[in-house]
Amino acid sequence: MTRESPPYLAGLEDILVGQPEDFVLTIRLNRPKARNALRTQLLKELADVLAQASNDDDVRCVLLTGGEKVFAAGADITEMKDKSPVDVINDPRGHYWAAIRDFAKPIVGAVNGFCLGGGNELAMHCDILFAGNTAQFGQPEINLGIIPGAGGTQRLTQMVGKSKAMRMVLSGEFMSATEAEKAGLIAEVCEPELTIDKALTLAKKIAKKPPLAARLAKESVLNAADTLLSDGIKAERKSFATLFASSDKQEGVSAFMEKRKPTFKGH
Ligand code: CAA
Repeated sequence: MTRESPPYLAGLEDILVGQPEDFVLTIRLNRPKARNALRTQLLKELADVLAQASNDDDVRCVLLTGGEKVFAAGADITEMKDKSPVDVINDPRGHYWAAIRDFAKPIVGAVNGFCLGGGNELAMHCDILFAGNTAQFGQPEINLGIIPGAGGTQRLTQMVGKSKAMRMVLSGEFMSATEAEKAGLIAEVCEPELTIDKALTLAKKIAKKPPLAARLAKESVLNAADTLLSDGIKAERKSFATLFASSDKQEGVSAFMEKRKPTFKGH
């Protein structure tokens, strides 16, 4: 199905994109050395490719996946080191996240390995998730002196409920794929080597449905949870930016980069 598809491969560094096949566009996060950390360049590429896919009639569904051992390790911590709250507010990342959130066609996610921080937030932007049984989901931002900043506190709570969300967000503990399925974070857990095949099979099935109905079905299902979500995300973003003024955030990020245990002081 490459008839009129734009060349998705041109100039991409951080993601791999095929040409649409049976109306499904496959996108793979591809920064293995940095464990697929979502640096700004990666988010921009993702937003740009989704913008292209929005206007491509040969794309009716997107499959999003990462690596075998890491789906994504979250925001790129090295980019956070010297950011002030003002930098966070002016950061273009907010626009890229909005482009991913607003993508109107269905996205099926296939997760293997670690799915952490912004990586888990990205996974939660997918409409349906499959995960290999070794996958681990987490929001470990608290260990860096910050909190999730791309909707994590809101979407996770909607998906798994308050107590499990609090446990993950406050303690940084991970959730196994089996528990994630039980809790409703993912649709199905399977053998890791089957994750992509299963997600692709479902993506192709969805791509055979009438595209306009699929688009409005996605919009409607998201509406069910969205009444107060946008307010919650705005408030979360402010708190996230505020934490960039704290010395504990400097300590958390420095300790990560220096590969040592952080000492937090509460300011
Ligand atoms: N940002 C930048 N670099 C990262 C990274 C990240 N999130 N995660 C890993 N890396 C880098 C490491 O620094 C290391 O680099 P060097 O080779 O140059 O030393 C390399 O990737 C390999 O990392 P590890 O040796 O730690 O790899 P591992 O396979 O043993 O462990 C991991 C993998 C469990 C994912 C571990 O790397 C990890 O815990 N990463 C951090 C996870 C995290 O804290 N995520 C939250 C980020 S903040 C966020 O996401 C904010 C938000 O909501 C918007």
